[in-house]
Amino acid sequence: MPDVTAGAAAPTPHIAPYEARGLKGRILSGVQPTGNLHLGNYLGAIRNFARLQNDFECLYCVVDQHAITQPQDPKLLASQTREIAAAFLAAGIDARKQIIFNQSMVPEHSQLAWVFNCVARVGWMNRMTQFKEKAGKDREAASLGLYAYPALMAADILIYKATHVPVGEDQKQHLELTRDIAQKFNNDFEAPDFFPLTEPLIFGAATRVMSLRDGTKKMSKSDPSDFSRINLTDDADAIAQKIRRAKTDPHPMPDTAADAEKRPDADNLLGIYAALADQEKDAAIAEFAGRQFSEFKAALTELAVAKLGPVGAEMQRLMKDPGHVDSVLRDGAARARALAAPILAETYKIVGFLKP
Ligand code: TYM
Repeated sequence: MPDVTAGAAAPTPHIAPYEARGLKGRILSGVQPTGNLHLGNYLGAIRNFARLQNDFECLYCVVDQHAITQPQDPKLLASQTREIAAAFLAAGIDARKQIIFNQSMVPEHSQLAWVFNCVARVGWMNRMTQFKEKAGKDREAASLGLYAYPALMAADILIYKATHVPVGEDQKQHLELTRDIAQKFNNDFEAPDFFPLTEPLIFGAATRVMSLRDGTKKMSKSDPSDFSRINLTDDADAIAQKIRRAKTDPHPMPDTAADAEKRPDADNLLGIYAALADQEKDAAIAEFAGRQFSEFKAALTELAVAKLGPVGAEMQRLMKDPGHVDSVLRDGAARARALAAPILAETYKIVGFLKP
């Protein structure tokens, strides 16, 4: 059999395959460099990224190519790309052991995405709720990239044959599509098990953090109200002010999980508290049952400042040294390419593309 990987860069020695290192699998996850990184991104994703690094081989990607599916200011895009990388580092991801990089430096992602554009069906894309939300009413005016976005996301994951993907709950549908694409590719090209059926890793007490202004709406980078979210770079005063103004209801704190479920604003704040305190939501409910919101909010503020303050401060410090952040990204991209290139070469061979 011809060696389809010949010519591709060999993996650097310190990133030997995960199986050889006794790890549970290979992780890829990504964060878009759009708007402010917030508590939802941290509790739903980035904190978990750091916690998984002893058990998995990890690739964490700043997905700048996803960002341009909607208009971006080029200068801001560059600084926000560095900001996400800084957040990865500040959250404790070890860039020497793991791989931190940005998507556009690894062209294999978009090369595989084209193949996946031809595997995925228009009917599948039409079901994607994130596209519907982001495109809004004027769907005709949305970019083609926004529509094809989930196929690029599948390529981000499968270009490394990643086995696991830690994300917040809102990405579940995209991960199901990733599995559908993998399965259809394997079937269509009679390449059984070539791409793995990747597992989502969604865990913690805050897999879907909601807006502080409306407990029925997801906390998001694009909400026009800054009071709807706690940004990772907010200082203690800003955190305190936002929690003080967070929406509640006129009753004392819920005393059962069933009661909390019926009260989305209270439920959201309790989930945030539990996640920051590293406990189950039920424990937070028991701790504050029947007490006043003002007491709870004081405890939440203290906890949030203690847990987020050091992360924000480290991000600020790193952002003052863009040269260092850029070198982390460049080094990560080189190591990521060493893993991606042979997989792309194999894929091209399976598809029937001639070797360059
Ligand atoms: P993005 O940039 O919107 O969000 C980054 C991560 O944060 C999680 N998240 C939340 N978790 C809990 N509560 C919230 N309110 C909240 N908001 C965001 C997201 O679930 C995500 O894990 N399509 C992805 C980026 C992406 C990707 C990938 C992810 C591109 N390629 C490959 C995983 C694997 C996105 O837009 O995430």
